[in-house]
Amino acid sequence: MSRTVYVNGEYLPEGEAKVSIFDRGFLMADGVYEVTSVLGGKLIDFAGHVTRLERSLSELDMATPVTPEALLEIHRELVRVNEIEDGLVYLQITRGAPGDRDFVFPDPATTPSTIVLFTQSKPGLADSPLAKTGMRVISIEDVRWGRRDIKTVQLLYPSMGKMMAKRAGVDDAWFVEDGHVTEGTSNNAYIVKGNRIITRHLGNDILHGITRAAVLRFAREAQMEVEERAFTIDEAKGADEAFITSASAFVMPVVEVDGVALGDGKPGKLTARLREIYLEESRKAAV
Ligand code: PDD
Repeated sequence: MSRTVYVNGEYLPEGEAKVSIFDRGFLMADGVYEVTSVLGGKLIDFAGHVTRLERSLSELDMATPVTPEALLEIHRELVRVNEIEDGLVYLQITRGAPGDRDFVFPDPATTPSTIVLFTQSKPGLADSPLAKTGMRVISIEDVRWGRRDIKTVQLLYPSMGKMMAKRAGVDDAWFVEDGHVTEGTSNNAYIVKGNRIITRHLGNDILHGITRAAVLRFAREAQMEVEERAFTIDEAKGADEAFITSASAFVMPVVEVDGVALGDGKPGKLTARLREIYLEESRKAAV
């Protein structure tokens, strides 16, 4: 079935949707994005994604082309027409197409931003087999730019990181800077020691995950200890449990780091509990 996608105010069959070759997203990676998951036909953590989108745009001096209310409508309409039960909605906003290539930002009065949304159907998204077996990760050097808190479409190095993981026969890579884990290629990273969850503090060096914020809140409510600080890759190898969070993976156990099995090599109990709580609570709050 051909998807219906959204481009600059229009709903179109995916084959008819077009963006200019001069679009700054294409030429300069001058754009931001969000990924919102859909469970049971409803949007998970939608308000958080819109708030972060507005922040990303404002950090890059880009105008917000649509109101949060209109964005919600577009998300819902795409979920409806594409009959998405479980899956994702991808949204991208770029600085538009000024009609030529130039490093200088175009005047927003004459170059409107480009906005694109599409859905991805992922039946059984919350029942991933990886949640039962756990993921294996390798560590790689973090050579990304210094504003990882802005969710830009510059995803070449994260893609290279996924490929390094794939070639190593594992599921993902964790970025390491000065011996400390920053985050995963497309997720936030956590280790667990006893009843304590340790995850890097917020700053410019990681994306402020929307799932992270919700998971840490639920963890504290469930009387788990949370410590927001940088941890080393060696600490990770000695952890009892580890996991990652993201809009598409929710809470996903990690059972091996650089070939070293964590605990008994199976997904940890605290991680499993947190995944259960997150899925239950976020389904309840879904819109
Ligand atoms: N990635 N860190 C990075 C580098 C990410 O790309 C993501 C999300 C996260 C988790 O953020 P959130 O919980 O808000 O999804 C952390 C999305 C899912 C992606 O690129 O597909």
